[in-house]
Amino acid sequence: MTYKDVYDSWKSDPEGFWMEQAKAIDWVEAPTKALFDDNAPIYEWFSDAKVNTCYNAVDRHVEAGRGEQAAIIYDSPITHTKRSISYVELRNRVASLAGALRAKGIEKGDRVIIYMPMIPEALEAMLACARIGAIHSVVFGGFAAHELAVRIDDAKPKAIIAASCGLEPNRVVHYKPLLDGAIEQATHKPDFCVIFQREQEVAELIPGRDFNWHGFQFGVEPAECVPVEGNHPAYILYTSGTTGQPKGVVRPTAGHLVALNWTMKNIYNVDPGDVFWAASDVGWVVGHSYITYGPLVHGNTTIVFEGKPVGTPDAGTFWRVIQEHNVRSFFTAPTAFRAIKREDPKGEFIKKYDTSCLRALYLAGERADPDTIVWAQNVLGVPVYDHWWQTETGWTIAGNPAGIEALPVKIGSPTVPMPGYDVQILDDAGHPVPDGELGAIAVKLPLPPGTLPTLWNAEERFRKSYLNTFPGYYETGDAGMKDEDGYLYIMARTDDVINVAGHRLSTGAMEEVLASHPDVAECAVIGVGDDLKGQLPMGFLCLNSGCNRPHDEIIKEVVKLVRDQIGPVAAFKLATVVDRLPKTRSGKILRATMVKIADGDEFKMPATIDDPAILDEIRAALIPMGYAKS
Ligand code: COA
Ligand code: AMP
Repeated sequence: MTYKDVYDSWKSDPEGFWMEQAKAIDWVEAPTKALFDDNAPIYEWFSDAKVNTCYNAVDRHVEAGRGEQAAIIYDSPITHTKRSISYVELRNRVASLAGALRAKGIEKGDRVIIYMPMIPEALEAMLACARIGAIHSVVFGGFAAHELAVRIDDAKPKAIIAASCGLEPNRVVHYKPLLDGAIEQATHKPDFCVIFQREQEVAELIPGRDFNWHGFQFGVEPAECVPVEGNHPAYILYTSGTTGQPKGVVRPTAGHLVALNWTMKNIYNVDPGDVFWAASDVGWVVGHSYITYGPLVHGNTTIVFEGKPVGTPDAGTFWRVIQEHNVRSFFTAPTAFRAIKREDPKGEFIKKYDTSCLRALYLAGERADPDTIVWAQNVLGVPVYDHWWQTETGWTIAGNPAGIEALPVKIGSPTVPMPGYDVQILDDAGHPVPDGELGAIAVKLPLPPGTLPTLWNAEERFRKSYLNTFPGYYETGDAGMKDEDGYLYIMARTDDVINVAGHRLSTGAMEEVLASHPDVAECAVIGVGDDLKGQLPMGFLCLNSGCNRPHDEIIKEVVKLVRDQIGPVAAFKLATVVDRLPKTRSGKILRATMVKIADGDEFKMPATIDDPAILDEIRAALIPMGYAKS
């Protein structure tokens, strides 16, 4: 079968295609049909099935004789720890944790927030929720207390599972005070918290509210897997939108299982038993789909890596992990490779390791720049596949289907749409544009199984954000084009989302924080190009009239404010004070033009600009910061 055969077979019979893929999942009650479109344009998949995610990710492999195979390999250069957890051990640990959660009153449909670093217990917490039908929401450890509080108020969790600390190369991240601060800030209060005490920092527990991870499991009955409906939310994952209020992406159970399982062979080209590694974090969608669920549902061994591509201890860490654990397919963000390339441009470190087990490298999360792809191909000597997707879809929209047929790589393109995705490039009026022309990238509805059916408690926002602009389509928020061979090119976001070191961030959310500073009258945040992180946020501040405090002081304060409110992951360190912001005559800030000036790119003077002279003032402010070089 070629890619074209598979894609065409989906297109001619989507129902048959997905029912066929559904056979790979162990159902309690099998679905009688795939698509449920009674409520279109809100679509659901496999809604009449009964199934359990944890059973498919863990128990079924034990029952099928894979109990002794490693399910998780924990490799932490930060703590100098390596540990392997077999499928049978994982089942026992997860059943016990799930039993303890159930004994404390967690039931199907209850929400549980998970705030943990890259340790196997994070995956166990996710799976324990799935086992009893609770809906987890993992919050990335690099977010500050305020971001956690916003998610607590939106998801209204009955419990929060956290670790005592996270470990960054240069510091201990004190999770417990962040957690306590978030609960204090939030209006909603969880019934209880479970704290996994790490030896690097033991946190003080609040009696009556906090329970020790090990202690609260003592003597409980292990929980069995609870069947849930196919459309039951498996999890909620918050992602950045245009405002400070993140979007709660809902992941439906059955479609998630079917789609992820399909991708493991067809895209990532691994067979059950193979070791698959996604060097990301469980706090992001890549971590949900490809550290936890995809590899485990498919019976692979997954790696939980607590470290960085460089500095833990050196730029050879990735190669060591690949060699030691026999990694077949490896997935990370281009920024990780840029970091390695910067430290080790000649690839000296890789020569110390035997990475011949590796078959391919997969990059996603941000634009993969050609230099990085070529460098990675040269040092690794394996194909490098860029692929494009989003938190909302949970799996590849466009990629290279290496397990079906490795298509020729065109550098700069994540290759072609996967079955399930009818990708169109549209003009402003919603009409398809000719090949080679730029437009908004949209996907014809319905989206395939596993993608978001809605936003948590925000259906209207879901419609407004994704469905209303182009009726009949899902609006991806990315702009790009298609070539004559059907290859896609992803060029830029069409909204206020920026991508910093593969992390999706909202400039709107940062603007809200800057605007809260008492001396700031008006502000704008844009994403400027960065050689390492792809983009970096940069703030422009207009101060209240009469404010004569030193600008440096105010800049330091706003930098701290963003770190405290959003978190270190925002990497907000660049800001400048300007008299005025460039605007259209109707008052819209011309952020896109500011980006062009900062990056030193050519731009067309916007016809609607109110006062072109302001652009010179912006350029003058940027030059001393090392930007706006043409
Ligand atoms: N918990 C707490 N803080 C965190 C964190 C976490 N899980 N992850 C990152 N941070 C902090 C970092 O310590 C850093 O803090 P600092 O300002 O005190 O130095 C800040 O957030 C910014 O982090 P990051 O943007 O990741 O920069 P970095 O300099 O620490 O590392 C790279 C740069 C390129 C090595 C790193 O970004 C990387 O490995 N990226 C891979 C991308 C990736 O996995 N993306 C996931 C989507 S696929
Ligand atoms: P996230 O939801 O965090 O995965 O971010 C999704 C966004 O990251 C997409 O909408 C794109 O803007 C960007 N993105 C992800 N993968 C790619 C890629 N391969 N090429 C270009 N941009 C990408």
